[in-house]
Amino acid sequence: MINNLNEFKKYAYEFIDWIVDYYKNIEDFPVKSQVKPKEVFNNLPDTPPENGEAIEKIFKDFQDIILPGITHWQSPNFYAYFPANSSFPSLLAEMLISALGVQGMKWETSPSATELEEKVMNWLKGMLGLPESFSGVIQDTASTSTLASIICAREKFSEYNINKEGFKNFKNFRVYCSSEAHSSIEKAVKIAGIGKENLVKIKVDNEYKMNVDSLDEAIRTDIANSSKPLCVIAALGTTGSTAVDPLDKIAKICKEYNIWLHVDAAFSGSALLLPEYRWMLEGIEQVDSFVFNPHKWLFTHFDCSAYFVKDKESLVRTFEILPEYLKTLSDDKVNNYCDWGIPLGRKFRALKLWFVIRSFGVKGLQEKLRYQISIAKELEYIIKADKDFEILAPVTFNLICFRYKPSVVKSEDELNRLNEKLLHTVNNTGEIYFSHTKLNGKYTLRLVIAQTNVTKVHAFKAWKLIKEIAKTVK
Ligand SMILES: Cc1ncc(COP(=O)(O)O)c(C=O)c1O
Repeated sequence: MINNLNEFKKYAYEFIDWIVDYYKNIEDFPVKSQVKPKEVFNNLPDTPPENGEAIEKIFKDFQDIILPGITHWQSPNFYAYFPANSSFPSLLAEMLISALGVQGMKWETSPSATELEEKVMNWLKGMLGLPESFSGVIQDTASTSTLASIICAREKFSEYNINKEGFKNFKNFRVYCSSEAHSSIEKAVKIAGIGKENLVKIKVDNEYKMNVDSLDEAIRTDIANSSKPLCVIAALGTTGSTAVDPLDKIAKICKEYNIWLHVDAAFSGSALLLPEYRWMLEGIEQVDSFVFNPHKWLFTHFDCSAYFVKDKESLVRTFEILPEYLKTLSDDKVNNYCDWGIPLGRKFRALKLWFVIRSFGVKGLQEKLRYQISIAKELEYIIKADKDFEILAPVTFNLICFRYKPSVVKSEDELNRLNEKLLHTVNNTGEIYFSHTKLNGKYTLRLVIAQTNVTKVHAFKAWKLIKEIAKTVK
């Protein structure tokens, strides 16, 4: 137990020292936790303590039992999935957020939380080059944001009747995304009651971008069969290979058929801070909603998803609910963000974004993004030149998709097996952690150069390790 502020202060300083040492020595830990399933669980007691325990004891167990089961996402040797990257300004803000312990569901429950959120979302809108008319709100994740869009489209096109009387008159909605789009869309379609059989996965071209002719054809067929095309989700940066769907062409189709257009830019949206990537936004005026995750590639702690809508009234009309106990005197004068999404309770996430944007500055953020992209391009060049490896998708940002392909191995099955083995053997060294996908049936190794503190030296060391281990896998 901690009984007073002096004791709190003593431990807080100790924890800060620990955090500093942790970051200093982070590369000494195996990046991917090496524990076996149930190892952590079995090391923990089956029942809670009857009496309070000393922080020293809890902290020792944290170090002895919990830490070995941690995968070190903040290690510069982390190249897997998309990162949940962070930064020290964000960490400091997280400390303040925890200290304040604010639950900012309504303006009145902490006016600063709401008004700072409105301000930083306006900043982000300008930083990314999104239309002035968009309104922004922070959601926990891209999954929740996409779900909000699908529900909002459902309500808009049912004239808010499904919220009222259920699906009785609306059974024919269809949602479209590419076959490379993220699984959160399928989840959202299920949760929104559309049904996953009504999610149409459009085929992709040889660069894994949505084939718009196929989209057009699928929509025409559905209309001919009396279905209502509800929503198209365009990916600006797919998970597998960061392919960018042609937004301009998709936007034209959505305009023609009056379909909600949602953009999932979860990871790659951060690149819009760079003018040289603004080509992705052609067609944005037609977009109804847009999401990207500062918690993936803008150095802000998980969770923090930036969600923008063109018509905030339809969002609020979809989600707003006002029981007696939530009524406040300011309701008609302010944004109450609990009405802009699914959960009622809201963390004070804007504070960490504010710290990050102010501490880096727009230029600082741009420099960091460009640096990471430049490392990826250099590595791409080197991997391309290696006769035993093959690049499997265009490197548009900072994700390199590749595989080991020694000339002696001809069969695709054998290549898949070899690459899977290579991935696990490398990850089991604990030196780096990277992940995979399948592109066109090919087992694909993914190296994402986006961890906050990754340098060229780290990335080249990772490549050297992969190359060395590749020679040994059989
Ligand atoms: C393109 C894309 N969309 C959505 C998601 C889901 O993100 P979140 O964890 O914020 O729900 C991801 C996760 O990697 C993603 O890559």
